Amino acid sequence: MSASSNAPSAGATAPQAPVLSASVVAPPRRTAKPPGPCAMVIFGAGGDLTKRLLVPALYNLSHTGLLPEKLALVGVDLVKQDASTWAGNLRGMLQSFVGNPASESRIDAIDEKAWSHLTDGMSTVQGDLNDSGLYERLRDHLHEVARTQGTDGNILFYLAVADRFFAPIIEQLGHAGLLAQNEGEDGRRRWRRVVIEKPFGHDLDSARNLNKRIRACLEEEQIYRIDHFLGKETVQSILAFRFANGLFEPIWNRDRIDHVQITVAETVGVERRGKFYEHTGALRDMVPNHVFQLLAMVAMEPPAGFDARAIRNRKGDVFTSLCSVSPEDVVRGQYGPGTLLGHDVPGYRTEPDVAPDSQTETYVAMRLSIDNWRWAGVPFYLRTGKRMSCRMTEIAIRFKPAPTAPFEATDVASLPPNWLVLHIQPDEGISLQFEVKRPGPVVDLAAVRMAFHYRDWFPHEPNVGYETLLYDVMMGDQTLFNRGDTVEETWRVVQPVLDAWESAAPLHLPNYAAGSDGPHAADQLLEREGRRWRKVELEAAADPNAGPSG
Ligand code: BG6
Repeated sequence: MSASSNAPSAGATAPQAPVLSASVVAPPRRTAKPPGPCAMVIFGAGGDLTKRLLVPALYNLSHTGLLPEKLALVGVDLVKQDASTWAGNLRGMLQSFVGNPASESRIDAIDEKAWSHLTDGMSTVQGDLNDSGLYERLRDHLHEVARTQGTDGNILFYLAVADRFFAPIIEQLGHAGLLAQNEGEDGRRRWRRVVIEKPFGHDLDSARNLNKRIRACLEEEQIYRIDHFLGKETVQSILAFRFANGLFEPIWNRDRIDHVQITVAETVGVERRGKFYEHTGALRDMVPNHVFQLLAMVAMEPPAGFDARAIRNRKGDVFTSLCSVSPEDVVRGQYGPGTLLGHDVPGYRTEPDVAPDSQTETYVAMRLSIDNWRWAGVPFYLRTGKRMSCRMTEIAIRFKPAPTAPFEATDVASLPPNWLVLHIQPDEGISLQFEVKRPGPVVDLAAVRMAFHYRDWFPHEPNVGYETLLYDVMMGDQTLFNRGDTVEETWRVVQPVLDAWESAAPLHLPNYAAGSDGPHAADQLLEREGRRWRKVELEAAADPNAGPSG
């Protein structure tokens, strides 16, 4: 993660119409340089994550010159396949992104030079993840790779496998001597880093246990607990918005902010992940990880610097101050059949690998409090669900109303509030809703929106969301990765709800239709405090005629 960003040139004004070329943006003040040599070992080489996200991200890095000059990709999988078969499969997936507007990567054509740079030295090792013999073969292979491909003995292990394998793989790597960061003959230390995918634990106890097991083999500085939401540009830029502008920070507190709403709405159902999702559910899948990361970015205190230690300390403070959530402040839901974007879609209980009487939640909404000086008394409302009316992630900050309204026939209560909305996806940007006078002889007020869209100011770069994260691991920058103690804190916050649900009587599910905005009970969660959710709609900021929300 870089501490400075492309800034609009001094004096540049926001566009009237959303067509601004990158020419009004000053050139970058800092440019990234490629990391040093390394081998990257992917456990789960034939899996979906590797094909859909990791390798396309590596390709994008290669295309932009941000892969190590000497990189050896090593795939580990149960299924036997040689390097050229593996490369062929990966290329097939990448090819499907070319010219595909539905793909987030939106590659125009595969650049052969970038592809060869990524795949020329690739190799595979086959074996069962529970078999110690695999790790011995891997050690010998990596020794050979370092000797023949100039990777200097630096190794990044990426665990793109089911979570039950995380601890066993790390322990086996430890036994095989693959995690020791020894000095080479040249006196330089060979680094060994391990990237652990989500889910990191299933509850507080399992997260503690996993931390304990992996810390017995690794130093914390070798562990990269990934949350792919932190790879999203708009999530990272929340910090720049808050701390590179003097304007907002003075009003970013309980004196001026009434409440915060965080929405992560998805249109997809459980897809082919019924087996995983049945014992996970929306709360575990999204809240202590992705949604809490958004919350931390909004709620943290200014860090002393933009380095990993400073940022992770301040984020850690937020999680420590988050009050454990009370089960009465949480609503869960499950989608039934419905209509979404003009198509009939089935209910959750008839999806593949889902029990016909499943009690698993596909939607969760909750109210949270942060017990610190800045946020005391300011509720944070979070909601996330599958099969909602549109795909939209936003953080909406509602400001307190004006103290008086010296306008004829207007009382304070009827003034719409100011909303500042950070639009995370899909239409990334920031919008501010405020009151103006309607043109005409009488003083009449209207709510309007001022909107900034990233796409109007910055050229689109193909990106699947893992580029920055992979680059950072190779650079040894842990800023965007979760520390062990903070992961445990996030589970601590939701554990009372997990416990309560475990022993609760079965609910009447489903309780919201696919294509709707979630269960009615979620509305009541806010109504009981005189508030209401913003509409789940696509990028309200894009259409000033759409009228105010909330
Ligand atoms: C994953 C969850 O971590 O994040 C999925 O397991 C969810 O259930 C996904 O759909 C959302 O991520 P994104 O980047 O598509 O918004």
